[in-house]
Amino acid sequence: MQAILESPAPFCEATDRYAVVRLSLTDFRCYPSLRLDADERPVVLTGPNGAGKTNLLEAISFFAPGRGLRRARLADVTRSDAPVGNGLRWAVSGTFAAASGEIKIGTGFEPAFDGGDGGRRVVRLNGADAPNQMTLGEVFAAVWLVPEMDRLLLDGASGRRRFLDRLVSVFDPAHTRQLNEYEQAMRERTRLLRGERINSRAADASWLGALEQRMAESGIALAAARRLFVRRLLAASDLGVGPFPVASVALVGDVEAWLQETAALQAEDNFKEALAQSRSADREAGRALVGPHRSDIEVTNVSKGRPAATCSTGEQKALLISIVLAHARLVALDRGAPPVLLMDEVVAHLDKDRRAALFDEICAIGAQAWMTGTDRDLFRDFGDRAQYFQVENAIAHSV
Ligand SMILES: Nc1ncnc2c1ncn2[C@@H]1O[C@H](COP(=O)(O)OP(=O)(O)OP(=O)(O)O)[C@@H](O)[C@H]1O
Ligand SMILES: [Mg+2]
Repeated sequence: MQAILESPAPFCEATDRYAVVRLSLTDFRCYPSLRLDADERPVVLTGPNGAGKTNLLEAISFFAPGRGLRRARLADVTRSDAPVGNGLRWAVSGTFAAASGEIKIGTGFEPAFDGGDGGRRVVRLNGADAPNQMTLGEVFAAVWLVPEMDRLLLDGASGRRRFLDRLVSVFDPAHTRQLNEYEQAMRERTRLLRGERINSRAADASWLGALEQRMAESGIALAAARRLFVRRLLAASDLGVGPFPVASVALVGDVEAWLQETAALQAEDNFKEALAQSRSADREAGRALVGPHRSDIEVTNVSKGRPAATCSTGEQKALLISIVLAHARLVALDRGAPPVLLMDEVVAHLDKDRRAALFDEICAIGAQAWMTGTDRDLFRDFGDRAQYFQVENAIAHSV
């Protein structure tokens, strides 16, 4: 696990396995409280609509930095019938198997003292407070595919960027920091361009210049990380997985063109220059019109020789699965363990051959995949390579 070896993690040994062996929830979505004990095999959650299957996947997604797989506001995650006195608190905690022993991650929402809209996500690692949620990226890795992503290859670029950035940050936890740094500098610059005062200071050219420098440094770093990752992903995707199509991924944007043509330092200068030139247009637009926050990701179905957007719904889903599996193989090589895969209703859309190939590949990679469905029969080919839970009325029991 490269990042940990380079920058010692203060709380934990490097994880050599990302597998949740105990999950506890308190006032999380429909769950007043729940404890689920699992082993390291893939997990199949079945049950009727509204039982709480996706909520369990969402709970696990909070062990990674960010807003979870629903991108929810923290206060909306609190169980709606939770006692008022709890002040919108919710918590999830997980125990992870690792060679060095068990790792415990706890996280949740701590509302503001004044009961207002504020509040923060708290994170604890092995019982000690962590400085921020970024630490989670160094000790846990998860990737998800959810039904909301069915139109990912058709709709606007922002969803594709988010998907790619999740993949990159699993591969390189520092990517999340670069993204945050970039977005923060960009937000401040936009506010200044709009004429807002920050800490009672108004914009001046040197302040704008300093923010543009920060945007250029973090923006080129994050674009370079995306670029490096895409190159490695292409090599891993080339191998293909049985009936799943070979996917090719390409990044498109101004910043990518600069990185293609010049060295990173020159690209940084180009970007800074472009930002300075674009101030009045950006003021007009109310946002930065140039930068890696506008890049797109073009996905092609290599097996068919077609852009992903012109493929069938099932083929698009298969392409996303191909990318996630290639990524998992890559992460297993790089970090020593594949990420936890959260696959919500993925199986229902696959034909029998693809289902069997998906189960085989998950087992070959050694990933703990958490998979949901309403019909247990669809998972038959997993056999005892997986463990099964029936979820009903916010209770999950092993079956
Ligand atoms: N904050 C909340 N408080 C209480 N209940 C909630 C909250 N948010 C969501 N729910 C409820 O949780 C229940 C379970 O949702 P979930 O999405 O996990 O179901 P599911 O088992 O995945 O169903 P499906 O098969 O339809 O996808 C739903 O009835 C939903 O309305
Ligand atoms: Mg669901």
